[in-house]
Amino acid sequence: MSNQFVRVALTSEIPRGQGKSYKIGRLELAVFHTEDGFFATNDICSHEREHLSEGFLDGHTVECPRHGSQFDLKTGEALSLPATEPVEVYELTVQGDEIIVSIPEKYLNLEGIRKAV
Ligand code: FES
Repeated sequence: MSNQFVRVALTSEIPRGQGKSYKIGRLELAVFHTEDGFFATNDICSHEREHLSEGFLDGHTVECPRHGSQFDLKTGEALSLPATEPVEVYELTVQGDEIIVSIPEKYLNLEGIRKAV
């Protein structure tokens, strides 16, 4: 499976300590601005359908706002119950003021994406 690098956001769009949701093709993507930098994950909790971008950040973990499972933003690993499955994480780079994320092609269609050259 190959990926495409997609310009998702500007760094100034996401205050430190917060996450934000983006729709990239069919992917609901969360980008988090932590004390350790920016991270990208699937926005949907692996337990039930909740948006992790609305969760609470602590270091490089996010706590799901519905039932409180914590996920490691570097690995996607579920660190506490009730979630037991990881969430997908995506390679992210910052170039200048742009956040670029490596998106699996399975999520991409040709409409409505901001593709990096
Ligand atoms: S929906 Fe996220 S822990 Fe239940």
